[in-house]
Amino acid sequence: MASILLIGPGAIGATLAAWLAQDDRNHVSVAVRTPIDSLEVTTPQGIIRAKPQVLTDPAQARHVDWILVATKTYDSEAATEWFAGATGKHTRLAVIQNGVEHVARFEKHFDRERIVPVMIDLPAERTAPGRTVQKGPAKMVVPAGKNGADFVKLFAATNFDMQQTDDFTTAVWKKLCLNCAGAVLAVVAKPAAIAHHDGVAEIMRTLVRECVAVGRAEGATLEDSIPDEIVDRTRRGPRDSGNSMYADRIAGKPMEYDARNGVIARLGRKHGIEAPMNALMATLLEAVQQA
Ligand SMILES: NC(=O)c1ccc[n+]([C@@H]2O[C@H](COP(=O)([O-])OP(=O)(O)OC[C@H]3O[C@@H](n4cnc5c(N)ncnc54)[C@H](OP(=O)(O)O)[C@@H]3O)[C@@H](O)[C@H]2O)c1
Repeated sequence: MASILLIGPGAIGATLAAWLAQDDRNHVSVAVRTPIDSLEVTTPQGIIRAKPQVLTDPAQARHVDWILVATKTYDSEAATEWFAGATGKHTRLAVIQNGVEHVARFEKHFDRERIVPVMIDLPAERTAPGRTVQKGPAKMVVPAGKNGADFVKLFAATNFDMQQTDDFTTAVWKKLCLNCAGAVLAVVAKPAAIAHHDGVAEIMRTLVRECVAVGRAEGATLEDSIPDEIVDRTRRGPRDSGNSMYADRIAGKPMEYDARNGVIARLGRKHGIEAPMNALMATLLEAVQQA
């Protein structure tokens, strides 16, 4: 039996919480900013529902075995308000977000040894509070070791592809290569078809080349072919598809430009590597958001 508090039941969080609650061995509660009454997820296999305990105030939190954070990266600090009540001596924290700074975002607030960074591939969309659509299969990658193994066990009753790796750094930087290129769609507010423009495709390649250079300096193993692969993949996909930062731009919501682009310029400076195109994307998206 594992007690789990999932903070941030949005597209990813609600989908994960509903799946976790299908297993009687998990006791799932959710910590919300916007109240919900229940969870309903339209999955590729059909609809799943759950009625977890819903916490609306950090004072309601009680010690759990696992805290799962699934807020956007820019809400990480706010998410830590739930930690005081939910953290016991053995509580572990799984950070299920994009970017490469999972541990760095939380180590001021949680024992670093008990933080499990999670790379997630799961196309999900929130249609209403507590209601999501899971559009494809779910994959999560966590570091090798006991904490990662115990996190994988929480999802034993799902059909998720759960992997442990000795090289988590490479896993998150590969994902960042894809995410950083997607900033172009958010900047121009156009879906993937824009990648068929040769100049735009070259901007995407440049963003990814910068990411590859900084990722390698951070210890990731990244092939020279990644920039071309990402452009090809974007061009092969549906012309009207987007990514979550593009969707947030269209919806007028805050965007994760710092975790996806700003970080490449920031970490690059540490290694003396310039990443001007990623800095440009982060600046433009920050300006759009503030306008
Ligand atoms: N969506 C995807 O397909 C996808 C795929 C892979 C990775 N990711 C990554 O997964 C992470 C989560 O993304 P998402 O798309 O699930 O975001 P989202 O739909 O915006 O959900 C975030 C949730 O966190 C809640 N929240 C924010 N601050 C909170 C707080 N202090 N306490 C409790 N709840 C709080 C939000 O509340 P409100 O209801 O008030 O907004 C919302 O329900 C991001 O890093 C994203 O890049 C997403």
